[in-house]
Amino acid sequence: MSLAEVLIFVFALIPFSLSQLHPNEPAQYRTLPSLREQATILDGWRDVRLARLPQLLQKYELDAWLISQREYAEDTIWWSVRSALEFAPHRRTVMLFHTNTSSLAGRPNPLKWVDNTGAVWPELLGILETFDPNRIAVNIDRNIAFGGGLHVGEWDVLQEQLGEKWVDRMVNQPMLGIEFVAGRIPGQIEYYRLMQETTWALIEEAFSERVITPGVTSTEDVEWWYRDKIQERNFSTWAHPRVSVLKPESFPGWEGTKDIIQEGDLLHVDFGITAMGMNTDTQHMAYVLRTSQGEQDVPDGLKEGLKKANRMQDISIEKMKAGKTGNQVLKECLDQMKTDGIEGQVYSHPIGEWGHSAGAVMGFTNLPDFVPVLGELEILPNTFYSIELYAYHFVPERNETIRFRVEEDAYWVDDERGWEFVRGRQERLHLVNYTSPVEDKFSFTAQN
Ligand SMILES: *[C@@H]1O[C@H](CO)[C@@H](O)[C@H](O)[C@H]1NC(C)=O
Ligand SMILES: *[C@@H]1O[C@H](CO)[C@@H](O)[C@H](O)[C@H]1NC(C)=O
Ligand SMILES: *[C@@H]1O[C@H](CO)[C@@H](O)[C@H](O)[C@H]1NC(C)=O
Ligand SMILES: *[C@@H]1O[C@H](CO)[C@@H](O)[C@H](O)[C@H]1NC(C)=O
Repeated sequence: MSLAEVLIFVFALIPFSLSQLHPNEPAQYRTLPSLREQATILDGWRDVRLARLPQLLQKYELDAWLISQREYAEDTIWWSVRSALEFAPHRRTVMLFHTNTSSLAGRPNPLKWVDNTGAVWPELLGILETFDPNRIAVNIDRNIAFGGGLHVGEWDVLQEQLGEKWVDRMVNQPMLGIEFVAGRIPGQIEYYRLMQETTWALIEEAFSERVITPGVTSTEDVEWWYRDKIQERNFSTWAHPRVSVLKPESFPGWEGTKDIIQEGDLLHVDFGITAMGMNTDTQHMAYVLRTSQGEQDVPDGLKEGLKKANRMQDISIEKMKAGKTGNQVLKECLDQMKTDGIEGQVYSHPIGEWGHSAGAVMGFTNLPDFVPVLGELEILPNTFYSIELYAYHFVPERNETIRFRVEEDAYWVDDERGWEFVRGRQERLHLVNYTSPVEDKFSFTAQN
């Protein structure tokens, strides 16, 4: 075992609460509990979520929520109610959630049928007749995934089997699914922090001379390094990592740039990891020192650009109050940026159970000032958000204006503290300090 491995091993044994997690300390790769232990934890979280449902139904003046799906054509919500041992709904799975206050009080919640004979329909009809719910939510929203997961064939079958009386009582209320999925569960943050630190550890290693040799390594090499390393560390991902050399013309897109990394480049990564039903989404930047010219520090113009992006993060966190719509917060951010003389764009989104999770967004790259539907939703407290943005900054050393792109995940702490970054935020550029091939070989040996 190398010294590095011994250290990683020792750190893995330190309970989370004793270890310091701070962006100015090097990040450690963290390990999660065994899959077997994770399953117990995940089922516990699912139960907490289910216990919230009766109250959620009442909040939206609903008596029931009917979800129906077949194997491999599951409702989006199925992923938030499944047991950790289920990887797909069986046969036709029908679930009826209720408020626990009606004639169904004391019955399981949800009532659940797994059926391939059609027996579910008369039974469900019988339940509806005695329960007599007035407003039954079904996931038929046209725009919002978390309230629109009922497949069209399944909707046809429901209408046919339940008939007009019950179909007339069915309503579309996407906020039910949104709040159900987005609500943070106590206990998640402890593991989410470990995932954030691991995300940082991946970036710190990728954006260093241990992985990048200027003039040799390509942005795509680094992307695939991430993919392999994420798997090696027993995490998975929800999007292919995007590594770019930032240039004046590079706009946030679906792909990284295809470049051989050179000295003097400003690098950028956008990626996330997945584990325990949670996802991270992070963007950091790095500078490739011109070591062949004896450069020892990042040019001031690049440091200033990052500071500007940090200021935009402060503005975003400050303006993001629960109860405001995403578009209101977006406008307040853009107004404050104008006051501060900052040009840039904000496009923050909910995160957590999904990489782009349920709830209000603040901007999209292609919708900088106003977002229909998703921007008109209210921001919910007690959720996770990914604060994503860029600041334009003119870098005198390069005679170029560059978008300084950053993203960090935040969570709602409480009414007093509001939103905080889960692991702080990048305030210094990562450095690729490549000196000589000999040292590179040496450091690789030390790593392995
Ligand atoms: C609703 O009833 C079910 C079944 O009795 C029970 O498991 C669940 O905890 C109840 N939920 C609430 C919020 O009372
Ligand atoms: C990944 O999981 C396997 C199987 O549980 C385990 O043997 C291995 O040590 C884990 N790797 C890391 C880096 O935690
Ligand atoms: C870069 O590496 C060299 C040699 O390993 C070291 O002397 C120097 O301090 C490093 N520079 C920075 C900015 O870390
Ligand atoms: C900086 O760039 C502008 C426009 O791209 C160009 O007109 C100008 O000559 C450049 N200045 C220097 C000092 O290179």
